[in-house]
Amino acid sequence: MPTSNTLLCPLDKQPLTLESRSLKCASGHGFDLAKSGYVNLLPVQNKRSKDPGDSKEMVASRKSFLELGHYQPIADCIVSYVLDRFSPAKSLRLFDAGCGEGYYLNYLESACIEKNYDTDLIGLDISKWAIMAASKSNKSIQWVVGSNADIPLGNGSLEVVTCLFGFPMFTEFSRVLSQNGILLLVDAGAEHLIELRKILYSNIHDYEDGLATGINGFSLIDEQNLKFTFGLQSPQEIQNLLSMTPHIHKAPYSGKEALKKIEKLDLTADVKLRWYVKNTVISESD
Ligand SMILES: C[S@@+](CC[C@H](N)C(=O)[O-])C[C@H]1O[C@@H](n2cnc3c(N)ncnc32)[C@H](O)[C@@H]1O
Repeated sequence: MPTSNTLLCPLDKQPLTLESRSLKCASGHGFDLAKSGYVNLLPVQNKRSKDPGDSKEMVASRKSFLELGHYQPIADCIVSYVLDRFSPAKSLRLFDAGCGEGYYLNYLESACIEKNYDTDLIGLDISKWAIMAASKSNKSIQWVVGSNADIPLGNGSLEVVTCLFGFPMFTEFSRVLSQNGILLLVDAGAEHLIELRKILYSNIHDYEDGLATGINGFSLIDEQNLKFTFGLQSPQEIQNLLSMTPHIHKAPYSGKEALKKIEKLDLTADVKLRWYVKNTVISESD
């Protein structure tokens, strides 16, 4: 197991221990490690659909898009913040909630190795396709199929939780973070992929900042607005980008047909990164 953090049984929350290639709890629930090393901790009864999360096609499209490196400025921003804030002397326990096929976690790991940081990284996603792809790309990170709504980790067991373009569950994030633990939320700003949206929709809705809606138990400590441009050079690259965004489901047929005719596209990335610290709970006796 690449993590020394204890994973918990999704059925009764007891610690899981590794016996040959299976994780077992004291009550005898068992979860086999896949050949590529990931573990599926999403019990059937917790699934809202047969194949939850991003589909195999969406995962493949996002992987192809991210491998082009256009979103590297986002990854660089995360790396420099994390390396500045934490010392290489202590193992950094970081969890990526809704990690997709692991682009950002892989990038962070490479940077940490280069700077001699000791890390314990866990990526979780509800899509088995995403985790299958992630686990094939990197065996030194622990990849888990599971839900942000029920994170299979103990209270206070992490220094950092990241949630990029995902589905934050603040109560769970707060529970698994240690005192002074850091939460990073990343989401689209007002101008994000505006050129794509102008082709897809006849009316562009006013921007609503929903990034931290419902956040509780955290204080904002830093905010970065990252804006940069990049170019897509073929209809296939454009379709890959479309397929990894919610517009693949939301956009009208006419918009998607119009996009198919575009050969090349220059785009704006407009991304918000918000860093929070977990609020300290002061007990009445303090
Ligand atoms: C837009 S993608 C972002 C993936 C990755 N964070 C990135 O930025 O490349 C959102 C991801 O959240 C996953 N997801 C959706 N609901 C989830 C949940 N309840 N718990 C964990 N992951 C979830 C999807 O399967 C998908 O991989």
